[in-house]
Amino acid sequence: MTAEYKVLGDVAVITLTNPPVNGLGFSTRIGITDGLSKALDDAAVKAIVITGAGKAFSGGADIKEFGTPKALQEPNLLSVILALEASTKPIVAAIHSVCMGGGLELALGCHYRVAAPGTSVALPEVKLGLLPGAGGTQRLPRVLGVETALNMIVSGEAVKSELLASLPGQKLFDKLAASPETLFEEAVEFAKSVAGKSGELPLVRKLPCKHPQGDAYFQFARNMVGGMSKNYPAPLKCVDAVQAATQMKFDDGMAEERRLFTALMFTPESMALRHLFMAERAASRIPDVPEDTPQRAIKSVGVIGAGTMGGGISMNFLSAGIPVKILEMKQEALDRGIATIKKNYEAQVKKGKLKPEKYEERMALLSTTLDYNDLRDADLIIEAVFEELGVKEKVFKELDRVAKAGAILASNTSTLDVDKIAAFTKRPQDVVGMHFFSPANVMKLLEVVRGKETAKDVLATVMAIAKKIKKTAVVSGVCDGFIGNRMIEQYSRQAGFLLDEGATPQQVDRAIEKFGFAMGPFRMGDLAGNDIGWAIRKRRATERADMKYSKTADKLCELGRFGQKTGAGWYDYQAGKRDAIPSQVVLDLIEKHRKDEGITPRKISDEEIVQRLVYALVNEGAHILDDGIASKSGDIDMVYLTGYGFPIWRGGPMHYANQVGLYNVAEAMKRFAKNPRDDASFWQPAPLIQKLVAEGKQFS
Ligand SMILES: NC(=O)c1ccc[n+]([C@@H]2O[C@H](COP(=O)([O-])OP(=O)(O)OC[C@H]3O[C@@H](n4cnc5c(N)ncnc54)[C@H](O)[C@@H]3O)[C@@H](O)[C@H]2O)c1
Repeated sequence: MTAEYKVLGDVAVITLTNPPVNGLGFSTRIGITDGLSKALDDAAVKAIVITGAGKAFSGGADIKEFGTPKALQEPNLLSVILALEASTKPIVAAIHSVCMGGGLELALGCHYRVAAPGTSVALPEVKLGLLPGAGGTQRLPRVLGVETALNMIVSGEAVKSELLASLPGQKLFDKLAASPETLFEEAVEFAKSVAGKSGELPLVRKLPCKHPQGDAYFQFARNMVGGMSKNYPAPLKCVDAVQAATQMKFDDGMAEERRLFTALMFTPESMALRHLFMAERAASRIPDVPEDTPQRAIKSVGVIGAGTMGGGISMNFLSAGIPVKILEMKQEALDRGIATIKKNYEAQVKKGKLKPEKYEERMALLSTTLDYNDLRDADLIIEAVFEELGVKEKVFKELDRVAKAGAILASNTSTLDVDKIAAFTKRPQDVVGMHFFSPANVMKLLEVVRGKETAKDVLATVMAIAKKIKKTAVVSGVCDGFIGNRMIEQYSRQAGFLLDEGATPQQVDRAIEKFGFAMGPFRMGDLAGNDIGWAIRKRRATERADMKYSKTADKLCELGRFGQKTGAGWYDYQAGKRDAIPSQVVLDLIEKHRKDEGITPRKISDEEIVQRLVYALVNEGAHILDDGIASKSGDIDMVYLTGYGFPIWRGGPMHYANQVGLYNVAEAMKRFAKNPRDDASFWQPAPLIQKLVAEGKQFS
């Protein structure tokens, strides 16, 4: 059991002991009911205190039980709460640190609540596409009022206990303790003070629940919430549930909450959000690197190159309070880089997102140099120089010469072979890829590229430092493009074929944006610069002559239409504006290309566009799993959700393929393979897909 029972005088204390956040798993629930029985059976006990050990009162459901039958195993949370309510001896929840989800619902089932200041209080279920399922939507409005409760339930955001305690008329807390340190003592005192009281014990369920404007308020709430949550059904269901609290008897409201909760459980959006939640946690675990692998201390960072990436990378560390020294070849380059960092931070200060003193603190952590010897104390050095192997060679030989023993040497290369880069040093075990995405101070994704000799403690350290700088780190093996860019190349190739066959850039972009991508492939190309892909294709022409591409993109680049930076790309742009305007020049170019190739254009449906683009990601993703470049399909989803604008509510390409059904996906691939304008060999379903279909399984 993960709850302890003890008796202090005439007060019994039940302490949840399920680290890290006292999740309400089966063994904790049993512990609570067991403690409760003991307390009720003991005539000497007059009152009961429930609290949590360590860093939380309770963070809610136990994520290990998430979505498994164990979560419902009796006593489930609803039964535990009913047992608390039925207690003939007063129960006081002593709340501190974190009181969220099921934890808050548990507290609402107690007769009294004493809270420590600084406690984060929330019902965050909506973030998983759900609503609170153990009475939260019915009880919270009764103690905080309908509006405050609905705001908390719909947003899922945490509110501090002292703020809630200050709300007029609130009944959530019977007492706010003087400090977290005195909470326990104060809760026990409070329990003693109510132990002798005569009359019925107070229950939240018995409080009235009304909004003065009644249904008119809920209509207003629905309009607001509906406008903000268009791809997600849960927030509106939260409104329904809270409205039920105002209209129905308590038990009927509970039944309505359960009905809405169960329906949400099976929506694709909730499944996607829960997948994301689990995949994010799983991404930080590397199969052969145990969690207790020792880490190297990272107290200072060196960055080579103060260009686009070097500047953004440096900002991540400065913002986390870690000193950074940037090295460049020339003072002018340093000055330019520093000016950009300053400009970015100043913009945040102007918007009120960064306090001026914080800005000063961060800039004080930044230093520059032109001399490699100044990097001899750095614990981690990240290279972000030009993407040429020769340049990387020079840099890594210098780093090998000056860096202290045990320093981690990382490259931000997007396309080069990390093993080759490691081989420029005499310490390949200390070399790793840290592939940031642009803008590096904004984008969440970090691909951690594991070379064949990268040491386990280097990986463990980089994963931990990624968390510190608030990145989602995903491990990738060494291959061309790593996980993200290797897949996007197949997606881009399909986009090109679609143009050849009859689609326009705007039709392709519109279809995939309607599916939910932040930006279609052609608008994306114009933003990133079409010359980047051009350079890659030129390289491919010699390295992988078998790879077939539409020639329209090359023809576009031959006209100098590199995208927004040249004022024209797949679209036209007006000076100083980013709106993509359909371009007659491009439409003519595509039409001429079709004529040259003898292609009769056909009408292509939006459905085909979406399937070919997304299934291209899925098939390449499966190859990546087959090749051992990614260790699990959830990692691939994380890459696409955090780095490539894949719609969150669809859960990433691999999860989406599971939802569609791998059989259906494989059948579509076989259909595409018959299209003579496409690449038949690419559309053979990857061995992993074939195997999973044959076994009736899905990506796990
Ligand atoms: N720009 C992106 O979107 C992006 C995304 C991910 C990764 N990358 C990778 O990051 C690296 C840098 O890209 P970038 O876009 O920042 O390039 P950039 O041209 O903006 O900056 C490169 C900087 O490196 C400096 N430099 C070149 N050689 C050097 C040397 N020997 N010693 C010290 N400094 C040197 C240059 O003066 C320049 O300031 C490349 O490997 C690139 O593939 C870029």
